[in-house]
Amino acid sequence: MEEQKPKKFFWGSSTSAHQVEGGNVNDWSEWEKENATRLSQEMPTTFSEWQKNKFPEMFKKENYISGRACDHYNRFEEDFDLSKNGGHNAHRFSVEWSRIEPSEGKFNDKEIDHYKEVVKSLQERGIEPFVTLWHYTNPLWIRDMGGWENIKTIEYFSRYVEKMVCSFPDVKFWVILNEPTVYTSLSYIKGTQPPGVKNIFRARKVINNLVTAHNKAYDMIHSKNNGASASSPYSVNFWIPYKNKFYNRLLSRFMNSLEGHFLKRIKDKSDFIALQYYRSITIGFKQGGNFLGMIDNNLNDDDNVNDLRWKIYPEGLYYFLKKNSIYKLPIYITENGIPDALDEKRTQFIKDHVFWMKKAIQEGVDIRGYFYWSLLDNFEFVEVRGFWPRFGLIEIDYETLERKPRKSFWEYKKIIEENKDR
Ligand code: BGC
Repeated sequence: MEEQKPKKFFWGSSTSAHQVEGGNVNDWSEWEKENATRLSQEMPTTFSEWQKNKFPEMFKKENYISGRACDHYNRFEEDFDLSKNGGHNAHRFSVEWSRIEPSEGKFNDKEIDHYKEVVKSLQERGIEPFVTLWHYTNPLWIRDMGGWENIKTIEYFSRYVEKMVCSFPDVKFWVILNEPTVYTSLSYIKGTQPPGVKNIFRARKVINNLVTAHNKAYDMIHSKNNGASASSPYSVNFWIPYKNKFYNRLLSRFMNSLEGHFLKRIKDKSDFIALQYYRSITIGFKQGGNFLGMIDNNLNDDDNVNDLRWKIYPEGLYYFLKKNSIYKLPIYITENGIPDALDEKRTQFIKDHVFWMKKAIQEGVDIRGYFYWSLLDNFEFVEVRGFWPRFGLIEIDYETLERKPRKSFWEYKKIIEENKDR
């Protein structure tokens, strides 16, 4: 039998436009301005004393306004020099729909040229671009016509995708919609993000429209560039039973089985699986039978937590890699990361996740890439925590915008070197 050559493995990191670029005008930027004062009062109440003391920025209004963010829009060359120095051979970033199509049907060629420069500058450094088409933000005109609740948004999105795929014929990897389930639950069920709706029926409509949009975009990508690969990432949490009690074990098993429901709906129109994994969540009944639900992060009492007090559980990644191998599609880990301002846990975090990823590879799972979230500290818009959670391999000084690679940046480089051929 002919020996199989190892497939090229991509090592890199991810970012998204709104979180790093600065100067965006979209549904998020407007909502931030309207809600920053309220957020600076309300958000701290959701955190522990330990976090409040450690991150006093959370009390400030400015923490909740993305503003100039990391100014990555103007400094991408400098940032990609760092990616290259860090040994990365791939980078995932998103293009901002509101820049490209600021009003309905009017595409801005200057902004398309900007992203052409971004792609070129990655390619010149030997870094493969993975381009995300939508990472939570919408142009204002899309917002004004009802966002993802309006079925017409599917057509508009498809037209934008067509424009992008035709403008970037040499991009091989397209990431269509970032985590549609997270978007739907936070924006339309919990209502903690724009447009701030809390309505399960409206949420249903949104998720259905996002699934249709994914499928249409997938067909569009292939009709314009048959050699391209496309998928939409979905994020998973590993559920752990509270105090390992019998009923809690049943409950957590049930929750783990639900993870991946979205993937089932898009798998026939996906060339790969884009998996995003951060943490485990404890769930269960308390003594006396009271339902505790998802255990409050603040109750995570051990040391094994990050700055958001999420529980670190690397083995969970292995569980989902194995579970998803049944689809016989290549898997990319398109996000995995840790908020850790002092950089005390990041290196070990990456090592442990890479260990479990390699174990899955050795057992035959077809994994082709690992992208740490994130290259830079950035504006953490999920649940709107703002700038204080520090996910970056590279620290950003938000006063001077100076970039400082953390120790873990160099440790990640070593991990990449040691695992070049996996
Ligand atoms: C999102 C990122 C976010 C990260 C950390 C992911 O679900 O795609 O935009 O920054 O989680 O919360």
